Amino acid sequence: MEIGFIGTGHVGTGLIGKFAQLGHSVKISNSRGVQSLTALSSETGATPVSLSDAVREVEVVVIAIPLSAMSMLPKRLFADVPDDVTIIETSNYFSYRDRRVPEIDAGKVEAVWVSEQLGRPTVKTFTNIIAHHIADAGLPKGAPGRIALAVSSNDEKAKRTASVLVDEAGFDPFDAGSLEDSWRQQPGSPAYCTDLTIQELSAALARAERANLPGNRDEFLRRYFENTSISAKQIVELGRAVFK
Ligand SMILES: NC(=O)c1ccc[n+]([C@@H]2O[C@H](COP(=O)([O-])OP(=O)(O)OC[C@H]3O[C@@H](n4cnc5c(N)ncnc54)[C@H](OP(=O)(O)O)[C@@H]3O)[C@@H](O)[C@H]2O)c1
Repeated sequence: MEIGFIGTGHVGTGLIGKFAQLGHSVKISNSRGVQSLTALSSETGATPVSLSDAVREVEVVVIAIPLSAMSMLPKRLFADVPDDVTIIETSNYFSYRDRRVPEIDAGKVEAVWVSEQLGRPTVKTFTNIIAHHIADAGLPKGAPGRIALAVSSNDEKAKRTASVLVDEAGFDPFDAGSLEDSWRQQPGSPAYCTDLTIQELSAALARAERANLPGNRDEFLRRYFENTSISAKQIVELGRAVFK
């Protein structure tokens, strides 16, 4: 596939390396421009481009940037992008870190807000796993203990395309329903960064209680910041303890 990336941080880098290695044709962009992407390009074979070129002549766009940066992307970025291009976004909202979004603070589902900012249907996935594990915890299909990732969208074809990429990245894709239902995979939910198998993820999404998410998320952050050098394994254990 032809895949364009916007965002080459922790999440973007892990996926860019995998997709390039799998033989996909990968273009990469960030906020600082092509000169800043030389090293990543040498490591992965991906092609550094401008933001506007990252969404041109591709089948899939992956947007892996802070949620609040979505509204700072050029307003007409997707104006000439055909409707059948799948737009995957990986964002999670943390108000301590992101610019405050009053609509989300008031209860709007994060992925719905993102889709509105972009003016396009989107797929929310690669969000309920820490970036470190996107890069190194993937397993072949059928392997015991393979981690499952929630895939949410209102566009069934885009959801299928995204699910192929989730599988190729080493994870079981799980159809988590619509964007409106995607609060079930947001921070504070039992599905969030707890490294579950597909059966466990299905049960975790079903038992999520929306009213508990903000309190769970805040408790997770309080305990997260108590520890100055928390490992990826400890983050997953903390999530499992807090996001019941
Ligand atoms: N880290 C995790 O464990 C994790 C896991 C799942 C999902 N997520 C979510 O995935 C998203 C990305 O997370 P991350 O950890 O990869 O973030 P990150 O390491 O901070 O990287 C952010 C990337 O976004 C780019 N960016 C920021 N504003 C931009 C703009 N206006 N236009 C173009 N590019 C822009 C940055 O470009 P420059 O470097 O040039 O500034 C950088 O490449 C976030 O929404 C996060 O919540 C994170």
